[in-house]
Amino acid sequence: MLKPVFVVLLLAAVANAGLPLPSIIKPCARSDPNFNDCALQHGKETLPYFVKGDRNYNIPKMDPLEITEMSVSDGPSQSGFSINFRDVKMYGLKDASAEKVEYDFDQKHVLYGIRVPALTILGKYEISGRILVLPITGKGDVNITLLDNGLTFSFDYVFEYRDGERYYMSKNHKAVVEPSKAFYRFTNLFNGDKLLGTQMNEFMNENWREVYKSMSPSISEAFAQVIGIIMNRVSALVPFDVIYPETIP
Ligand SMILES: *[C@@H]1O[C@H](CO)[C@@H](O)[C@H](O)[C@H]1NC(C)=O
Repeated sequence: MLKPVFVVLLLAAVANAGLPLPSIIKPCARSDPNFNDCALQHGKETLPYFVKGDRNYNIPKMDPLEITEMSVSDGPSQSGFSINFRDVKMYGLKDASAEKVEYDFDQKHVLYGIRVPALTILGKYEISGRILVLPITGKGDVNITLLDNGLTFSFDYVFEYRDGERYYMSKNHKAVVEPSKAFYRFTNLFNGDKLLGTQMNEFMNENWREVYKSMSPSISEAFAQVIGIIMNRVSALVPFDVIYPETIP
């Protein structure tokens, strides 16, 4: 069972609606039969801008990405455990690159594929339960490092009308983060028992794939929420027909 992820992102002063696109973002024409190629090209160019953040558009800095709390519990199965992460800082999005963009303006559905070479998640953890049948308890600092990640992000959207303009609001955000390798380091496991702690860290790294499987819903959900919040901040400020004009003048 996945418990809620609490994400708090810095909110800038209230900005006005009806803003133009940030100058760095060049729009693609909706009528362009190669819209997705155009959007991918522009996505590659503008992703670093988004990651740096822009107060004028309420976009927080995303490297490091700060997440107040993230919890996952595996349910009462025999391998069940629950982890609570706090004061998380996630590093690595500055090196993200867009790989795939799919817009479906009829179905109002959008999918992005993004590659992230390395994601390092640092913070405080508290864990209890069993990991792959081994009992585990602990509370301390954690470093989870995920290498060569495929990040898929998709959403649907609806329109909202204000002052004669339509704005889009995204919903049903879904994210999947798939690493090619994961490293874990949990300090102070088993009340600081060095031998048990070292053995458990080794065990988790040997079985990184299974361990990641149980954490990935929480990590993916955090991503979905964060990207969703940020996107809706921009789309609440810039009219849909400015972001996605029918034609480019
Ligand atoms: C986190 O772990 C990775 C992989 O083991 C390592 O390269 C990195 O230096 C660690 N970062 C910190 C801050 O400990």
